[in-house]
Amino acid sequence: MSDPKIVKLVDESSNRSSELPLISGTLGPACIDIGTLYKDTGHFTYDPGYGSTASTKSAITYIDGDQGVLLYRGYPIEQLAEKSSFLEVAYLLLNGELPKPAEFATFEHDITHHTMMHEAQKNFFQGFHHDAHPMAMLAAAVASLSAFYHDDLDVENPADRKMAAIRLIAKMPTIAAACYRYSIGWPMRYPRNNLEYVTRFLHMMFEVPSEPLQMNPVAAKALDLLFILHADHEQNASTSTVRLVGSTGANPYASIAAGITALWGPAHGGANEAVLKQLKEIGTPDNVESAVLRAKDKNDSFRLMGFGHRVYKNFDPRAKIIREMCHKVLAELGVNDPLLEVAMKLEEAALKDDYFVERKLYPNVDFYSGIIYKALGIPTEMFTVMFAIARTAGWIAHWIEQHETPGSRIGRPRQIYTGADVRNYMPGDKR
Ligand code: CMC
Repeated sequence: MSDPKIVKLVDESSNRSSELPLISGTLGPACIDIGTLYKDTGHFTYDPGYGSTASTKSAITYIDGDQGVLLYRGYPIEQLAEKSSFLEVAYLLLNGELPKPAEFATFEHDITHHTMMHEAQKNFFQGFHHDAHPMAMLAAAVASLSAFYHDDLDVENPADRKMAAIRLIAKMPTIAAACYRYSIGWPMRYPRNNLEYVTRFLHMMFEVPSEPLQMNPVAAKALDLLFILHADHEQNASTSTVRLVGSTGANPYASIAAGITALWGPAHGGANEAVLKQLKEIGTPDNVESAVLRAKDKNDSFRLMGFGHRVYKNFDPRAKIIREMCHKVLAELGVNDPLLEVAMKLEEAALKDDYFVERKLYPNVDFYSGIIYKALGIPTEMFTVMFAIARTAGWIAHWIEQHETPGSRIGRPRQIYTGADVRNYMPGDKR
């Protein structure tokens, strides 16, 4: 009887075969370890978009896309959303356990005391065009942290890695707020250490020198919750980018800057900005039907932004929480946004449409988040920046995990070459 933990793959044309072990994690399907496949059979595997490929082992986040389950370090997202805070979740992602009160106090103290940007870094912003997209500024500013903290950083040293994590989580809101303020011509604000993480960020965004800021605590609570929901999401495109860059030994700031650029695309984190623009374009509930028709038209590249997910094929648990929260936050802030009506009509129309049902396309995390950001006064161009602030906790947790994993190798996929066969160079007059 064959070993149930082995998958045998036979290439009948060459009669070469490979016995491939099955690897199981704590949860989720077992994976076929194809590490010896090329040596045994002379073949690579082909999986564009990585639909069937696990690129790493990881103990940080688990998703069951069929059941709509998302766990950070084993804790269901619903429980964390209800009971935790973003900073506590960041600690959890980084350290694997929820902090005891004293551990959290130390972590919060460390974060709070690394929030300032180097004064020289502020000069960077002056070089940007006044209407530069904040994601462009964010990526450049985070990459430039390498220039400020490079010499004293040894990626092989756990203490240095931890310090980089603290710096990144601490400085991200400061840099993000600076991007926004530069774009509207306001002076940059220093972080106020007497405030907690999210409130401090909102102050840096909206406080003007001339008068005190009246902050509605509902806004800080809502943003904190959105940050929890965005903090990590397994091996998504930006996290995989961070890991790929990290696998070369690049420093964490360069690795996270690469993650930011990957996040920016509208198929990924840029969808939250795209959703709001699309809802505005649709304009009224009456136009929803024609938008759904366009999204189904295979001759039209138009897609419903905020719909569909590579992994979730039942529902996105984050979207469920955000949808509920959206109604609550708008009511508590006294905001009446007609776009919410358009969004609800769009969701209703798509959920009963065969095209969306057959393809298991449901609203994702980005569908309702933009309406909340808008209600908080955050401009549309900053939406993906919000996502990046939160995801920094996940990115750096993955970067650290990668460096703590013995035997990590540089990421180096192969290809199916479809170009010209070998040919000889011809001089110009003979071509
Ligand atoms: N509107 C219309 N049709 C869609 C949509 C959509 N939003 N999403 C997927 N489809 C169709 C697609 O055309 C394809 O149809 P067919 O089988 O007939 O060719 C089928 O559904 C499968 O789509 P896919 O592109 O192969 O799926 P994927 O897993 O490669 O892509 C996705 C996932 C999220 C990129 C895609 O659903 C999409 O582009 N959604 C809109 C952008 C968006 O909301 N992105 C945020 C994702 S969640 C947050 C994050 O990752 O940051």
